[in-house]
Amino acid sequence: MATQDELKQQVARAAVEYVKDGIIGVGTGSTANFFIDELAKVKHRIDGAVASSEATARRLRDHGIEVFDLNSVDGMEIYVDGADEITENMHMLKGGGGALTREKIVAACAKSFICICDATKLVPVLGKFPLPVEVLPMARSYVARELVKLGGQPVLRDFTTDNGNIILDVHGLTIMNPVEMEARINQIVGVVTNGLFAARPANVLLLATADGVKTYKK
Ligand code: 5RP
Repeated sequence: MATQDELKQQVARAAVEYVKDGIIGVGTGSTANFFIDELAKVKHRIDGAVASSEATARRLRDHGIEVFDLNSVDGMEIYVDGADEITENMHMLKGGGGALTREKIVAACAKSFICICDATKLVPVLGKFPLPVEVLPMARSYVARELVKLGGQPVLRDFTTDNGNIILDVHGLTIMNPVEMEARINQIVGVVTNGLFAARPANVLLLATADGVKTYKK
């Protein structure tokens, strides 16, 4: 039976089929890292990439792929990234690696979000994985109290984001309406963004299973 890493590699390879030319948006995390390694093999076909984190930018550059500032590009055809959880409706919960804000910004600039996951990430309801919320440091306690009012138990992560902010991981949420919950949390003053990617869901899900890579389209 394939290991989880082998499944991630399979799905990363499948995502390369979606790479045409121009500039590619690239996500963050172990699955995205496999994608970067596969992208390096076809780097002659692309102009370069926009990275969703400093870690991703470093890995892209290590492979000799040019990294563009998002402000210097008009947009992208595709953004490729993993997720911590995804539903069949293509709503995602992301930010396990702490890069959620930049991921959401880069994804917003792409025509198509291609989510690459192994089968363990497909869930009926989001929220078992603690929901990451990026918060300005001075608002930490206030935002935590507001998140408790929404029924969650926020836990401060020992981590500073690429943007110099903190992350509260919110446990205990059963997210029945991800679009509404995403908007509600983002309205709390001091929140930069939260890890629900529902208002802008994935367009394509490539899911690595024991029976091969399955494709879901929105
Ligand atoms: C990082 C993310 C990642 O996409 C998510 O955590 C999945 O990571 P992995 O591919 O390592 O399981 O949102 O902020």
